[in-house]
Amino acid sequence: MRQKVFVLGANGKVGREFLSQVSSLDSFQSGKPHPTDIVGLADSKHFGLFPGGVEPARLSRLAEGRLLHYKHNLIDIRDNFNGVMGSSNQREIIKAVNQMGLDGDVVFVDATANHDEMSRFHSNVIASTNNKLVTANKNPIALGDYDDYYELTSDPTRYKYSATVGAGIGIVPWLHERAAMNDTVRKMEASLSGTGGFITTEIAKERPLSEVIAEAVEEGYAEPDFRDDLNGLDIARKLVIMAREAGYNVDIKDVDIERFLPDEYFDEELSADDCLNKIAAEFDQVMAARIADAKKRKKSIKYVGSFNIVDGKPVMKVGFKEFDETTPFGQLSGTDNRIEVTTDIYNPENSNMYKVEGPGAGLAVTAAAIRQDLFTILPIVRRSYAVASV
Ligand SMILES: NC(=O)c1ccc[n+]([C@@H]2O[C@H](COP(=O)([O-])OP(=O)(O)OC[C@H]3O[C@@H](n4cnc5c(N)ncnc54)[C@H](OP(=O)(O)O)[C@@H]3O)[C@@H](O)[C@H]2O)c1
Repeated sequence: MRQKVFVLGANGKVGREFLSQVSSLDSFQSGKPHPTDIVGLADSKHFGLFPGGVEPARLSRLAEGRLLHYKHNLIDIRDNFNGVMGSSNQREIIKAVNQMGLDGDVVFVDATANHDEMSRFHSNVIASTNNKLVTANKNPIALGDYDDYYELTSDPTRYKYSATVGAGIGIVPWLHERAAMNDTVRKMEASLSGTGGFITTEIAKERPLSEVIAEAVEEGYAEPDFRDDLNGLDIARKLVIMAREAGYNVDIKDVDIERFLPDEYFDEELSADDCLNKIAAEFDQVMAARIADAKKRKKSIKYVGSFNIVDGKPVMKVGFKEFDETTPFGQLSGTDNRIEVTTDIYNPENSNMYKVEGPGAGLAVTAAAIRQDLFTILPIVRRSYAVASV
């Protein structure tokens, strides 16, 4: 059975990597029993719907950016593949899918970073169509209220989001299973930010914070305005998804966030370059002293998210925390994520808590997590790949 997939955010970093993996690993030429047919592509301005699917070679060129202008690509694909084009508006897209007689056959992939429009789109797909949706975009399930989250996620055969936390590290389905099995989650500690992990690792080597931030931007671990990665919001969104998956009715405003830098560095009047200069002049020393002090006490400073039950209520925090240097968190290095979960069954008094560690972010693993979700919602999933070819 061919799975028909419509990619929103197809021109972005995750979207392109996804198209690249699909064209090489999942296409009908790959010999897979359930190949992926890309039937729709959209960026923020335009969409194209091609009911017969787009050929892998063209997808691969699109993913590599070798076809230049996105709108022209869509026109070109439409002319070759008998499709329709329109402005990238959620109602138009759903209307076009219906008009083509594809309702119920399409899986939308959300590889955008959009909030309002995509939240409406997700709700519409789940409430008003028979289609399915896989998302790497955290916003619709983390920033909306709990009822919206519940509506979206209540049918796991239609809505998947493994890539939103830990990029396919497996924590989302694992937590979902805990709730389903009445194994109450009591505590979670998580290093969930690749940028935060990289920076705390490098400054522990006595490098100046400003220099390390500049390198994180240069290497693509952080956005050009690095403050978007250091405001704690990304970790907070992941923490909310994890807590909700574990069965707790929580909200993003419940998260107590300590930003990576003092508030004055987030002043909107301050450009990213000026902010970096200000850090070099005023904050490098403060951070270095803090690291040195922790080191003297054999502690390692990490930027983490935590979930605890206090007086019967969930308490969520994002911020700096000291760990003994000898602990796995203390030794965590680079952009890797680590998540520890204590439940009624998984706890130190019983066997032990649940621990998972892995890349947590990055284009390849994020795109693979989307493909993994697509695989799990195929109506028939039989084991069909017997031998690894090396
Ligand atoms: N990078 C990672 O390692 C990673 C890991 C896990 C999850 N994620 C998540 O994956 C998502 C994509 O990340 P990215 O780094 O690929 O972002 P990106 O490069 O900024 O790409 C986002 C894409 O979304 C498109 N877009 C925006 N609004 C849209 C709309 N209303 N309809 C259709 N397309 C729309 C943009 O189109 P234009 O080109 O027209 O602006 C752009 O092509 C984000 O939510 C991110 O948090 C990323």
